[in-house]
Amino acid sequence: MKRAFKILLFLACSIVFLEAVEAKFPVPKIEFNPKSMICPFTEQKINVDGADSEAVWDKAPWSDTFVDIEGAAKPLPYLDTKVKMLWDNEYLYIFADMEELHLTAKLTQRDDIIFRDNDFEIFIDPDGDTHNYYELEINALNTVWDLLLLNPYRDNGQLAYDSWDIQGLKTAVKLNGTLNDPNDIDEGWSVEIAIPWKVLEEGTTKKCPPRSGDVWRMNFSRVQWDFDIQEGSYVKKDSPEHNWVWSPQGLIAMHYPEMWGFVHFTKRVNVSSVDLSISDADKNKWILRQFYYAQKEYWEINHKFAMKIDELIKLFPNLKPYKGLVLLQSTESLYEFIYKPDNVVYHLTQDGLIWETEN
Ligand SMILES: *[C@@H]1O[C@H](CO)[C@@H](O)[C@H](O)[C@H]1NC(C)=O
Ligand SMILES: *[C@@H]1O[C@H](CO)[C@@H](O)[C@H](O)[C@H]1NC(C)=O
Ligand SMILES: *[C@@H]1O[C@H](CO)[C@@H](O)[C@H](O)[C@H]1NC(C)=O
Repeated sequence: MKRAFKILLFLACSIVFLEAVEAKFPVPKIEFNPKSMICPFTEQKINVDGADSEAVWDKAPWSDTFVDIEGAAKPLPYLDTKVKMLWDNEYLYIFADMEELHLTAKLTQRDDIIFRDNDFEIFIDPDGDTHNYYELEINALNTVWDLLLLNPYRDNGQLAYDSWDIQGLKTAVKLNGTLNDPNDIDEGWSVEIAIPWKVLEEGTTKKCPPRSGDVWRMNFSRVQWDFDIQEGSYVKKDSPEHNWVWSPQGLIAMHYPEMWGFVHFTKRVNVSSVDLSISDADKNKWILRQFYYAQKEYWEINHKFAMKIDELIKLFPNLKPYKGLVLLQSTESLYEFIYKPDNVVYHLTQDGLIWETEN
């Protein structure tokens, strides 16, 4: 009985997050179970006007209602947010619907730091290698901040290109209420966005437009501030913002692309026949990612990376050796993990980049 329990426990823990005592390097504190959603193909032209009035939008399934970025440990957002998507041969379309009692926005310049207003945000890492990803933020004035990140801030950070712009981007917002007027209660706002494949294809080896059946890593989030009403104006409260997301990160940081959701592009008419389960490849990458987190923590403590997997396992009792997983090291600051569970080889290097090759 006891043994059976242990085996069960082992299975349940085989893909868990690292549980380092007093870890210095932040890791997601939730199970690896990112959300999935379907992005159907549209034959109908989409007019980007902020409204989902084209009939084809009714065929795009809504995402789950957004949750707190830290996951189920935190209360549900007090305003609903949901999103849906479509694609055709020219554009990826995103539509977000947001409940809002007090519509407010101030920023008007392209590439302003839009999350200082309430906003809606999109993150796209087409190939899921956690490098070369796109971010777009938009407020209720239809002001956009679009940027390109060569890698997450945790991996030699600061490689964010604000001056990079999405050529041919189309955005529109539709307000159901009055902007910057605290004298009434508003209903909400919606955002409609079209991103040309021509721009998205530059940072990835994935096909653009995708093939039916392709899966991309993406996430959506909504930053929401609390406001006081003073002398007829909204004044931001001196309290941290809310971060409401489609797929919870398990920590307060969006720049963990391995936690983003899975978007399934399809040309199928019956979209419910698409298999949304997480692939073995993504589960295997998540295993490697645990060793990356462990190396990050090891670096925090020792200012160099571990040379042997045993050193990491000593530091993190939750980590266990995997057959076919080896650590190659050339210097104290360079390493590569290689994992060969089957006929695919997964690679992860010290800069967080993850990719696969054939065995
Ligand atoms: C505005 O919100 C109200 C209440 O939710 C809804 O009945 C109405 O249809 C909305 N108007 C528009 C233009 O979306
Ligand atoms: C992204 O997506 C994941 C998976 O659905 C979700 O858990 C997470 O909170 C989302 N938010 C961010 C900021 O990545
Ligand atoms: C759509 O696919 C689902 C799941 O495969 C199936 O149960 C359902 O019968 C299909 N619907 C139609 C109209 O074919």
